[in-house]
Amino acid sequence: NLAMVTCTAPVNIAVVKYWGKRNEDLILPINSSLSVTLHQEQLKTTTTIACSRSFLQDRIWLNGKEEDISCPRLQSCLQEIRRLARKRRNTGDPTSDISVVSHKVHICSVNNFPTAAGLASSAAGYACLVYTLSQLFGVEGELSTVARQGSGSACRSLYGGFVQWKMGERSDGKDSFAEQVESESYWPELRVLILVVSAEQKSVGSTSGMHTSVETSQLLKYRADVVVPCRMEEMIRVIRQRDFPAFGELTMKDSNQFHATCLDTYPPIFYLNNVSHRIISLVHRYNQFYGETRVAYTFDAGPNAVIYTLQEHVPEFVQVVRHFFPSEANGSEFVRGLPVCSAD
Ligand code: DP6
Repeated sequence: NLAMVTCTAPVNIAVVKYWGKRNEDLILPINSSLSVTLHQEQLKTTTTIACSRSFLQDRIWLNGKEEDISCPRLQSCLQEIRRLARKRRNTGDPTSDISVVSHKVHICSVNNFPTAAGLASSAAGYACLVYTLSQLFGVEGELSTVARQGSGSACRSLYGGFVQWKMGERSDGKDSFAEQVESESYWPELRVLILVVSAEQKSVGSTSGMHTSVETSQLLKYRADVVVPCRMEEMIRVIRQRDFPAFGELTMKDSNQFHATCLDTYPPIFYLNNVSHRIISLVHRYNQFYGETRVAYTFDAGPNAVIYTLQEHVPEFVQVVRHFFPSEANGSEFVRGLPVCSAD
């Protein structure tokens, strides 16, 4: 009478950023985006879901603390998966275990990294929730449109490697889904370093930040209409060519433009701090020294830097960071080096 499933989902870091919704309920974006999914064993969420006839209500625990199950985004995902499971039952699929669909669930989700550090925890969290529910209820097929309704960036964490979220055009969102561009083994030398500048919770969350940006920033509109459509094509091309200098340059330009739209928002939103700015300068000086782009930064809605580079440059760049940020780097976890893609 008790069924239980455990799954994990990794964090993804966008190189063409999603910022702004055209429909806030369905979470439909104003531009397409592209990200790299980190390796499973690195930053990830692990979710266990049990269901039983004897459970009286749906409940959820995040990192050991019970949270409010009535959260609308959580409810969207739960309802959508249950609807898909019933649909499957009605079409008479003999392999579907129908009994569990009507049971209540107990969800337990933990991150292996500090949630407060703002490292894309909602992306891994909702991707993992939706995938685990689908396994429990025997739902197959397009899950990224369901994860998208939990948190936009979550749709990209359902796939490994290089993933694009196509914005789509339809008002029902059916064509707004994630798709793998290249697999996790496509570019095995690519590496990610995370520089944990601050573990504090961000001051303006992405949901409310992008809402204000859509309402007030003309630059954001220009970015979505003019810049991103070309940039998506270019980014896919340079990834397919494994052209690091071009990939790095586009990644940095896109991060900078995203933060420029935050400054163009009224009142302005500041996600980068002094240490973030010093990291940006250091990366440019380092690349200038070698006369080529060997290292690239990107920043999400917070001050922590994500560095993309190739394996061969990791040891030297980590040394350089430790040299220029002695006080930060002495803190236990300032630099975290992570392989992006599995070598096998
Ligand atoms: C800056 O996916 O967290 O990380 O859809 O409102 O949940 P909601 O927003 P969220 O926004 C992520 C913004 C970003 C860029 C990105 O990951 O593409």
